[in-house]
Amino acid sequence: MKYDFNQIVRREGTNSVKYDMREKVFGQGNVIPLWVADMDFSTPDFIRKAVIKRAKHHVYGYSFRGEGWYSSIIKWFKEQHNWEIEKDQIVFSPGIVPAINLCVQAFTKEGEGVIVQPPVYYPFFSAVEHNNRKLVLNPLKLENGRLCFDFDDLERKIKTQQPKMLLLCSPHNPGGSVWTREELQSLADICIQNKVLIISDEIHCDLVLYGNKHIPMATLSKAVANHTVACVAPSKTFNLAGMATSSVIIPNEELRERFEESIERVHVGMGNVFGNVASEAAYKHGAAWLKQLLKYIESNIDHTIAFLEHNTPVIKAIRPEATYMVWLDCRKLDMPDDELWKFMIHEAGVGLNRGDMFGKGGEGFLRMNVACPRITLDVALSNIRKAIRKET
Ligand SMILES: Cc1ncc(COP(=O)(O)O)c(C=O)c1O
Repeated sequence: MKYDFNQIVRREGTNSVKYDMREKVFGQGNVIPLWVADMDFSTPDFIRKAVIKRAKHHVYGYSFRGEGWYSSIIKWFKEQHNWEIEKDQIVFSPGIVPAINLCVQAFTKEGEGVIVQPPVYYPFFSAVEHNNRKLVLNPLKLENGRLCFDFDDLERKIKTQQPKMLLLCSPHNPGGSVWTREELQSLADICIQNKVLIISDEIHCDLVLYGNKHIPMATLSKAVANHTVACVAPSKTFNLAGMATSSVIIPNEELRERFEESIERVHVGMGNVFGNVASEAAYKHGAAWLKQLLKYIESNIDHTIAFLEHNTPVIKAIRPEATYMVWLDCRKLDMPDDELWKFMIHEAGVGLNRGDMFGKGGEGFLRMNVACPRITLDVALSNIRKAIRKET
């Protein structure tokens, strides 16, 4: 079956964060929303059908995740990522951000240090700070158009600040780096030697582009698996974020028990009946759809990069190896972050994420979500070109 990613799906009036919160976030209800990480493509038909079938039943009472929920996850990660997950290693979480917060609570004490590698998905910072832990920053370096780890700085920070945990974003958001086996092994070696627990957020692991390969942290070795808590979900891959259904993979039994206790303490382990059904359908039937999606995203990224190079070379796009986020280097425009963001809203009518919200190294950047029909992207790019040409 051929899927049509060019189709425009009207999302206004559905309480969509991306659309219906524009007035609140951007001060203008009509910007082209290329910001928060969800896609404008239809959630695939095989998922909608499964949810509709369940919705036709007359009772939506308490439910648990059946055998199919687990086996679909196990099969997906084996086939897509060559990752052997055992059923009892899988713990449900109503989202990855909640899971990261619960990890911080379960595995560190107040005042202890947690390493975060900016520029990075901003809820990592609040997961540390709102839980009264100490942020230890190990900024990434931009080298030849790719965000990379800074291992020297990491070792220095570990020596001087003795953090207990590292929050890894793999693949990386907003830079789109797919960490290589060597990079992950070096990071893991340092963490294991220094007893720094790795929380590996792999929510973007299926959205890997241009022949790159995602290496799940836990597949490096048994030792690394024992030292890693991995977070995965169908939400980004299949446009299911509103279903609030994800999994935490914890091979180490003692860590798993501690995590489960912390989930139990706040009683959020139930999940919801539709999320369970959607997740199972996605992982069972999603491989062919995903292949086509990735081709469409690659072509939107290629198009964006070529357009900017040709029309507004003052903005330099970092080509992502994964995700549908393009990290735009706007430093040559020489505008303070607030001005840059507002310039895109008011002069181009485009709503983007400001780079400085991702922390150190994000200043002068913008994040653009290109998971939308080409026509939407084209209007946004053309508006940006007109706005920049007037300005420069
Ligand atoms: C790296 C990363 N982790 C987690 C999330 C959100 O996860 P959830 O909605 O399951 O809390 C996002 C969403 O953009 C993300 O990019």
